[in-house]
Amino acid sequence: MLRLIKRCPAYMAGYKAYCQELYDNGVLYFRPTDPRCIDDGWFERTKPLYDKKEQGLIRGQSPSIHYWAVDGERFIGEFQLRTQFTDKVMTEIGSIGYAVRVTEWGKGYGTQILQSGLEIAKAYGMERVLLTIHENNVASIRLCEKMGGKWQDTIQAYNDVEGHHSLRRYWIMLS
Ligand SMILES: CC(C)(COP(=O)(O)OP(=O)(O)OC[C@H]1O[C@@H](n2cnc3c(N)ncnc32)[C@H](O)[C@@H]1OP(=O)(O)O)[C@@H](O)C(=O)NCCC(=O)NCCS
Repeated sequence: MLRLIKRCPAYMAGYKAYCQELYDNGVLYFRPTDPRCIDDGWFERTKPLYDKKEQGLIRGQSPSIHYWAVDGERFIGEFQLRTQFTDKVMTEIGSIGYAVRVTEWGKGYGTQILQSGLEIAKAYGMERVLLTIHENNVASIRLCEKMGGKWQDTIQAYNDVEGHHSLRRYWIMLS
């Protein structure tokens, strides 16, 4: 059974393998941690930063809560929730980020992660969430629309990894 849990050292090896799979397959729609940075000390070293992100203590950034998706002992993917609609959230990263490790694609895990993640967003008091999806990302578009996402518009965006690209913006209503 899939569970969303807070980051935890017990799943470090799985997290690294998940990041490696996304990098090895050239997935640019969602960039996790560079696996080369993940060594034995990585979890403890980065914990203060993730704690600050969660508490909204990084100036100019929405509070950002990071979950890992696991099924028993297997690491499956991740889910990120940003609770405020900052400019960056509205025009680049959206309220929600999710990914499944490449070797687990197409097995329904993405659907389960998003379903559970929307419950978490509700529990944070959010009435709606914004998803920003690269126009070529057919899997994510399908997943979002399946979960009730309503297309608002398509905007032009730029980042170093993807260059200039078009982003479809979708709202999912939670209440
Ligand atoms: C998007 C992603 C999370 C989907 O995960 P997944 O576990 O494969 O998703 P599911 O198996 O639950 O499939 C969800 C729906 O998408 C469809 N789908 C999955 N891959 C697809 C593809 N390549 N093309 C078209 N539809 C696809 C499935 O058929 C399913 O729809 P259905 O229930 O009507 O059959 C996964 O592809 C991924 O991690 N991609 C890279 C990261 C990413 O793009 N994150 C989102 C950034 S906005």
